[in-house]
Amino acid sequence: MKEIEEFAKTNNVPILRPQSRQILIDLIKQNNPKNILEIGTAIGFSGCLMLLNSKNSTLTTVEILPTMVEIAKNNFKKLGLENRVEILQGDASEIVKELANPRFLREQKSSPFCEKRGFAPDCVGSGGFATLYQPQQFDFIFLDGPKSHYFEQLPYLLKLLKKDGLILADNVLFMGEVLSDIYPKHKHRTIILKLRKFIETVQSNPSLESKIIDIEDGLILIKKITN
Ligand SMILES: C[S@@+](CC[C@H](N)C(=O)[O-])C[C@H]1O[C@@H](n2cnc3c(N)ncnc32)[C@H](O)[C@@H]1O
Repeated sequence: MKEIEEFAKTNNVPILRPQSRQILIDLIKQNNPKNILEIGTAIGFSGCLMLLNSKNSTLTTVEILPTMVEIAKNNFKKLGLENRVEILQGDASEIVKELANPRFLREQKSSPFCEKRGFAPDCVGSGGFATLYQPQQFDFIFLDGPKSHYFEQLPYLLKLLKKDGLILADNVLFMGEVLSDIYPKHKHRTIILKLRKFIETVQSNPSLESKIIDIEDGLILIKKITN
């Protein structure tokens, strides 16, 4: 892990900060989730951390940049974790929709992808659409992709989360600006307004319990208490 951390530092790859890392480790150890979904793989640092701190968890992790995917693949392999992880390369906003609505799986998805999720091996039909089976659900979701997409991804993530499952989302306070009443300056306006909307939506949803963790760039822990 030290080597991966050093690589991130040298190459300016943003990875989970130290105190937030400890929160993630504690949550994984306490809950020992069977299936984990991560949005934002980068070079696999947080993914490796979750797998190394759990017993037999499997991880599905989503990353848009092919170069990151290649580095992450190597890192999972170096730590002997390659059989517990599936990396999906693409735009997470599209992928979460597909995962939550499997009948919209695209033809490019291979049959192992279908089998792993409990779909029929030939689930991808000639029209490019899969036969509808139950979507796989997750016990734990680590949300660490683009912050301005958290709000639009939320309905799909909630569909993918089991009852009593947890979502940990990073960077939700955006340097303290999200919880302030001040109308944000132009530079970060969109991201801050979207994060405020994300937090408000979570807090007003009666099927969720949530807690803001005000350390580093701010996290929110969400529990789905009813379906
Ligand atoms: C903060 S980094 C993730 C760090 C990683 N979770 C860790 O702590 O080791 C965010 C990652 O999200 C990826 N990303 C950005 N936009 C994305 C998108 N639309 N879909 C999927 N991944 C995206 C970035 O390329 C970047 O690697």
